[in-house]
Order: sequence, then C-alpha cells, then structure tokens
Amino acid sequence: MIQETKTERQIGQIISVQGDQVRVALMADYLESGRKDRLGQIASFLVVPVGEARVIGLVTGLEVTESQAGTMNLHLIGQISQGRFYRGVHQYPMIGDAVMAGEAQDLDAIFDRPDAGETLLTSSSFMLGRFALNTDYKVFLNGRQFFSRHAAVLGNSGAGKSCTVAKIIGESIKHPNTQMIMFDLHGEYRKAFSNENGQMDSNVTYLDENDLVVPYWLLRYQELDSLFIDRSDPTIIANQVSFFKEALIKLKKNSAKNLELLTTYNVDTPIYFSLDHFLTYAQNMNQARFVINTDRYAFSRTALRNLSLPEQEEILLTQKSQFNQGNPQGEIPHALYFQKLTGLIDQIEHKYNDKRYDFLLHPVEHAKKSKLFSGLFPQIMEERTDWSEMIVWLIKMLTGDLEPRKNLTIVDLSGIPFDIIDLTIGLITRLIFDYNFYTPVNFRRPIVMVFEEAHTYIPDNEIKNSFARVSVERVAKEGRKYGVSAIVVSQRPSELSRTVLSQCNNMIVLRMNNPEDQHYITKVVSDQFANLIQMLPILSPGEAFVLGDSVPMPLRTLITPPERRPASNNVDFVEAWSKSQPPELLDQTIGRWLKQERPQKE
Ligand SMILES: Nc1ncnc2c1ncn2[C@@H]1O[C@H](COP(=O)(O)OP(=O)(O)OP(=O)(O)O)[C@@H](O)[C@H]1O
Ligand SMILES: [Mg+2]
Repeated sequence: MIQETKTERQIGQIISVQGDQVRVALMADYLESGRKDRLGQIASFLVVPVGEARVIGLVTGLEVTESQAGTMNLHLIGQISQGRFYRGVHQYPMIGDAVMAGEAQDLDAIFDRPDAGETLLTSSSFMLGRFALNTDYKVFLNGRQFFSRHAAVLGNSGAGKSCTVAKIIGESIKHPNTQMIMFDLHGEYRKAFSNENGQMDSNVTYLDENDLVVPYWLLRYQELDSLFIDRSDPTIIANQVSFFKEALIKLKKNSAKNLELLTTYNVDTPIYFSLDHFLTYAQNMNQARFVINTDRYAFSRTALRNLSLPEQEEILLTQKSQFNQGNPQGEIPHALYFQKLTGLIDQIEHKYNDKRYDFLLHPVEHAKKSKLFSGLFPQIMEERTDWSEMIVWLIKMLTGDLEPRKNLTIVDLSGIPFDIIDLTIGLITRLIFDYNFYTPVNFRRPIVMVFEEAHTYIPDNEIKNSFARVSVERVAKEGRKYGVSAIVVSQRPSELSRTVLSQCNNMIVLRMNNPEDQHYITKVVSDQFANLIQMLPILSPGEAFVLGDSVPMPLRTLITPPERRPASNNVDFVEAWSKSQPPELLDQTIGRWLKQERPQKE
C-alpha cells in the first residue's frame, strides 16, 4: 500500500508512466472520502503538479485491486502554465508524483478560452453547451478547428444529433459570411430555421422537391448510365452504352459550339443536351435500317431517303421517324442498335413520366413552376435552345449568392425518390467541390456541407456503387485544401465510410448502445478513449463527448438545445391514439397519394 503523503486534495500517487498513459495508486482513504465527492470519476480530470506546471490528466478508468486501495488510469492531455491551459505535455510526471483533484483555478484555466465568445461573430469560438461534471463551465467549440477539419456527429436514434446540428448551424450562421449547405433527409430542419408561420429566416434558402432543380445534363456519363441503362439482359448492355456515348456527343455538340468547347468537350462535360431528343434518337435508332449497300437510312418517306447522311442524322436526332420494313431488295437493320434499345427507352420513359423525377429530368419546366426559382431567375421564362447557363443559377442558389445573401441552404430530400438520393447528393457535392476548386484562392469562400443520415448514402461497403460516397470521400480527403468541409451525421457509424470518418478531426458522440458502433468509433479515435466510449450507453439525450481539435480536451458536455428545435420530436403514440380523426381524412389522403402531393410540412 502506498504511504500516505497526503496534502489536502491528493488522491493518489503515480506508479507507472507510459507515453501519455499514467497509472495512479489511489490513497488509502480514497474509497471513503474521495468517493463521497465523486472525485476522479471517469471523464473528469486530475492534476499532477510538475515543477511550475500543472499537468492535466483525463480519468479513463478506475479499478480496485487486492493489494492496493485501487488504481486509476489517466490520459495526459495538456498542462497549465502561468494560468493558461495548453494542449500537449512538455514536462512529464515521474513515478511517485502526487495526483491531485483539480481546483477551481484549474477549471478556470481550461475553460476560460481567450478566444471564447458566445458567437462566431465576436470571436472564433461559440458556445455549444455546458461541462456535464460542473455546469458552471461553458463548453466552447473553436470554429476554426471545427469547420476546417471535418466533423462527425454520432449517436443512436433519438440521442440528440439533429438538435446538436441545428445548434451548431444556428450559432454559425449568425456570422454574416457563413456558408453552409445541409442535406435534410426527413424534412426536419425547416422548423429550426423558420418562424411560427413557416416563413424561412431571411438568411436561409430552403429547397424541397418543389424548388430544388438539378438538371440531368450536369450528371456524368456514369451517373446517367446508372439511371437509364437496362441491365436485365447482359448481352445488350454494351450496345446501349455505345449508343449512349455516341448520342451524348452528338446531342451536346450544339451547346459545345455555343460555348466554344467543340475541341475539348466530352460525354462528361456539364453542358446542356435535350433529353427529349435523346429519347427520340433512341426510339429512331431502335428501329433504324439502312438502304442496302449504302450508308443512308431507309426512311419510309422516299424524299428523306435521298438526303445526305448529315441531313438524315439531324432528322434522327429531332423527329420521330418511320423506317421501311423491307422490300424486295431488303433493308438492313442497324447492326448495333436494332431492337437493342427497348430497355433503355423504357427506363427513360418510365422516369421521364414520373413526376417525382421532374426536378432532375424536366429541370426547365420544373424551375418555371417554382415561385422561388422563377422569382430569383426570371430568365428561366425565356425560350432557349441551350440551357447550359442554369449551372450558374444553381450554384448561386446553393451557395447563397443571392440578394440578400443567404448563409444556409437546406436541401430537403424527403420528397425525392429514394433511388436517386445518392445521385442527387453526389452531384450537388461534386458541383460545390468543383466550384471551389476552380475559384481563385483569394476569392474562395469556405463552404461547410452537412450530411444527415450519412450512413445511408456514404456506406463503408465498397461493393455498392455509390456516387455520393465518391464525392464525399473526395471532400473528406481533399476538401480542406479548397475550403470545402464536411459534417457527417449518423446513427450507424459502423456502416459509414471509414475514409470519411477517419478524416473527421472532431467528433460529437452522443448516446450509443450498439457495441459494433462503439467498437468502430474506438478504432477511429485513439485507443486511450476506449473507456470513454464504453460510457456512451449511459448518456442522456443531448449529452455527448466532444472530442478533437476544437475543444481543449475531451469534454463530457450537455449540449444546449437550439432556440427552435428541428421537427424531430418522437411521435407521442399515446397522445395520437387519444385523438379522433376527421371522416374526410382517408379520402383526402388517398387523393394526395394519387397526385403525389405531400401534406403540409411541420
Ligand atoms: N441537447 C438536448 N437537450 C435536451 N433534449 C434534447 C437535446 N437534444 C435532443 N433532445 C431531445 O431528444 C429527442 C431526439 O432528438 P434528435 O431528434 O436531435 O435526435 P437524433 O439523434 O437526431 O435522432 P434520429 O437519429 O432519429 O434523427 C428530441 O425530443 C429532443 O427534444
Ligand atoms: Mg436526427
């Protein structure tokens, strides 16, 4: 047993130092007096005086052993010198050094951040909540670190992720030049950024399925391919692919000419082409035949048969045509495409006629119907044959480059078909990355992108083709250099891309029960926090460990809920069951269902 060299608040003595891990033998009376005051509970911190400095250690484990009163593990985090807290330890403790309970001055030094203020406007930090073990102290997040080095907000369903995100965004957009884009999968966030009448705050743009416009011509070939190619018969995939690429080059030629890109454009260049013409061309080529021994198409109308090939091609791209079925000389079916494009045509027609795809496949008509879009960009009402300029309007909308300037764009995807959420998020993320990539460094405005329910479209599983994953991983790996940063939000971190999660230098980890998820997080954060991770199941809603560069040390924090919470409150089954429903409800619901109109949002 350790001899008692007890000063007033000593609770133990160091018996081993390994790197930043320290083992402490507790004083004989610890179990009686120390326990009473809850000194040294996990996630609290203790002090090791070393010369002039006070080295700070985070309690990561406690254990009772037979030969001693008990031992405790500390993880050394930083030190206080001349009243200020610094990360990192310069003077290491030695065996035999006393370990003390922290005093008020220590807490003051740790929590009193010279850069701390209530909002980012007045300082580089903002208040996230209060220290769970002593609520007199506020926890500040350093915005510089938090936003530039990616962050993850993790926790079970109902643990408080959406409220935390709304709090972070709400604090950030008080700064007039903040730029954030958030993907809201359940339409929760409108409520957190609008008044009681549903009117959005003046610095927020809200894009739901009525106002979001994502023109299909911005998709890359691979993305269009995933949308339209019929893969049910492997023997004809190559024919469709070949047709698709040929058609894109032909159909984009007009815009390429207008934009002086004729020598450089390719299937991926994000310029306008007409999907109507694409469909017409596919329908024509699916039937096309040649006049025997010539390269001319065998149109039914004789006049057309005699046109030159370029003139014939122009007709094939723009007009639904009939072909001669065969005569005594015989008409030769097109070797590659004849009857091979039926599946492709079906896919296009099917999606083309589904109203839910309008924001993507009928972007011009959709934008004309949107009051928001047509109000901001009246040019949409013009008659044009080249809509390539829409990319400018889209970027302006997404980056808040409007009058008055917006700081947050909420992209509400709750009304978008599930099968194209991945594509939509992938495309918007790529646009934003490319936009900042091509902006001169001096003029670049950093953009934070928030990905709610990230595990659903940024999976760890490489097998599944995920466009969003490719785009977000690029942001995670390279975004910092170009001023694009990610906040990923997930209830299933173990299903989330490891590449993305391991790039997150900041984590807010709320309650988490699933051992698989805990295990996964332990691997991503350093080992010494493993014990903290084990505490995750006992946290209450809105209580989290905040880890990473944006806080002085891992802090168990009670997050202050935002002034207006997202519409994510649990459904109160019992209350709902106690109300009766109006008799006309069912008819109205089915009516909306058939017209694909969603009910009023919360
Ligand atoms: N900081 C907080 N303080 C107090 N209560 C909170 C806090 N954060 C969240 N809550 C409460 O917890 C409940 C769930 O919160 P929230 O919707 O933020 O959870 P979530 O983790 O986003 O859940 P899901 O995974 O289902 O989206 C809400 O009723 C909310 O009011
Ligand atoms: Mg949520």
